[in-house]
Amino acid sequence: MPMCRIFAATFKKGKVSPILKIGLKRLEYGGYDSAGMATINNGHLEIKKGVGKIDEVDKQVNFESLEGRTGIAHNRWATHGYPSVTNAHPLTDCTGNIAVVHNGVIENFLELKADLIEKGHEFKSRTDTEVVAHLIEDEIKSGKDFVDACLKAVKKVEGSYALAIIYSKEPDKIVLVKKESPLYLGIGSDGNFASSDPVAFVDRTNLMIPLEDYELAVITPYDHKIYSLKTETEITRKPVQIDIKPQMIEKGGYPHFMLKEIFEQPTSLYYAINIQKPYLEAISELMNRSKVNFLVGAGTSYHSCLAGSYMYSKIAGLATIPVVASEFIQQYGNTLDPDTSLLLVSQSGETADVLKVASYARMKASTVMALTNVVSSTITRLSRLYLVQQAGPEIGVAATKTYTSQLLIHLLLALEIGKRREKISENEINEYYSKIRSIPKIAESVLKDTDQKIKEVAEMLKDSSHIFYLGRGINTATAFEGRLKMLEIAYIPSSAFSAGESKHGPIALIEKNTPVIFIAPNDSSRKVILGNIMEIKSRGGKIITLGNAEDKELKDVSDVYIGMPESEDIITPILYVLPLQLLAYYTAVLKGLDPDKPRNLAKSVTVE
Ligand code: G6P
Repeated sequence: MPMCRIFAATFKKGKVSPILKIGLKRLEYGGYDSAGMATINNGHLEIKKGVGKIDEVDKQVNFESLEGRTGIAHNRWATHGYPSVTNAHPLTDCTGNIAVVHNGVIENFLELKADLIEKGHEFKSRTDTEVVAHLIEDEIKSGKDFVDACLKAVKKVEGSYALAIIYSKEPDKIVLVKKESPLYLGIGSDGNFASSDPVAFVDRTNLMIPLEDYELAVITPYDHKIYSLKTETEITRKPVQIDIKPQMIEKGGYPHFMLKEIFEQPTSLYYAINIQKPYLEAISELMNRSKVNFLVGAGTSYHSCLAGSYMYSKIAGLATIPVVASEFIQQYGNTLDPDTSLLLVSQSGETADVLKVASYARMKASTVMALTNVVSSTITRLSRLYLVQQAGPEIGVAATKTYTSQLLIHLLLALEIGKRREKISENEINEYYSKIRSIPKIAESVLKDTDQKIKEVAEMLKDSSHIFYLGRGINTATAFEGRLKMLEIAYIPSSAFSAGESKHGPIALIEKNTPVIFIAPNDSSRKVILGNIMEIKSRGGKIITLGNAEDKELKDVSDVYIGMPESEDIITPILYVLPLQLLAYYTAVLKGLDPDKPRNLAKSVTVE
């Protein structure tokens, strides 16, 4: 199952189910249409699973009633097989002794399933995952021990997987296997853990081992072992420190993670300013040396690339091509060579489309670099150099604080490249830096000053059937990002265009009171955007403008005006997106929706 999350734990003493439940809650951002848990109790498997969010399933099945010191758990986001109790993980073999949880996609499952059915296996679910349990059952039947059986079985599987497997006859062991889906071991003193994301066990240990592709690990309450799937030999790897503090993953008094994360931006921006200088310099050097530079990302991260392309051009005179990750190989794959650089931007570092571009570009000997928020993510292992944006864990599905950090880091890179290309003087750089250092404080006041007004705008917009977002220049990206937030969490159909494009189609949709949000800072495009506002206004559109607080002319032509502080044009995307994030949040809340868990979406999309 692709965007699911898995969690496994085995203890020296005490019940594992309460810990697994806490972990599942923390992993809920990764998928939440069903959930399940299996433990081994007195040599028997016990399983509880159901459809819905963790709390709903827990109400139905009472996870904590499961006894036993060893167990596995799963949050599901359905792809193969609709959300149902039978399709929820853990999945078992015919004997009911083996249980499996999985994040990934088994590409050859239909062939494997047909073979297994031929041999007499009976399938209970419609999932791709169930084949793994039956394959292991076969290997055990042929005389192999549990670990060896898993190793042999997984070798028959094609596709991507993070698997956690338990076997009631060897009750202290959990087998973990990884290819292309994230999987981390947690090394504790009371027992050991494994999860798709270390947030699941961060309060139990501060030591983890990221598994690599084609590795199989075995954890018991007392030790852990890692083997190469290819050579079947043991690998030794030292644990590393986890850099997430438990209190960072709680909501900190906010009703939703999204709101907490929006208001954390003054802090996350501060950390972004203080990013690792040597890596910033090294990446700038490689970008400057390359003949062609691509900026690649998905969703919000792509929007930061789009805004970034204006920064590199304006400050450093460097052309960069922003490209949506899922399109990259088709659109530009054939142009890649050793003189090309790619800066891959991915909050999670696990987005499948982005990872695919990384592997492809490596094959073509292009320079692969990354900007991510997750230190030990897969993208860091595929990149020659990477920067960690240090925004802290982002739990809300909609990206907020990681977007503004990405923007700020593009800006720092643009300045470094500008310096190397002598497009910008030392003095100008210093001036920029002093403006950049004031961003966290200004962001804080923007959030505080616009909060109330935005609540009123949300009230006004909550029943709209369509909202337009228009911006120009670098704030075209802000329009795109504002629209994405609104449609993904408040489910209001929304469109965004660079304002210049509005005459070429979108204007046909403007009727009396159609809401149109203009991002109109006091920059070189302000005059033209005023013209665009008049065009929409004369057709009856309701004008909501984000503009300079002192701009009387803009204020007069707008129905609603959100006054923003004066700032350098290249900095405006960082500040102007803040009220738009709040607007999406409050609109979703007014509509009675859960902004942290929008339907059909996942925090990181680990399938193409
Ligand atoms: C998903 C998330 C988005 C995110 C995108 C890219 O669609 O819901 O919020 O922007 O993935 O994620 P990444 O981790 O690669 O930045």
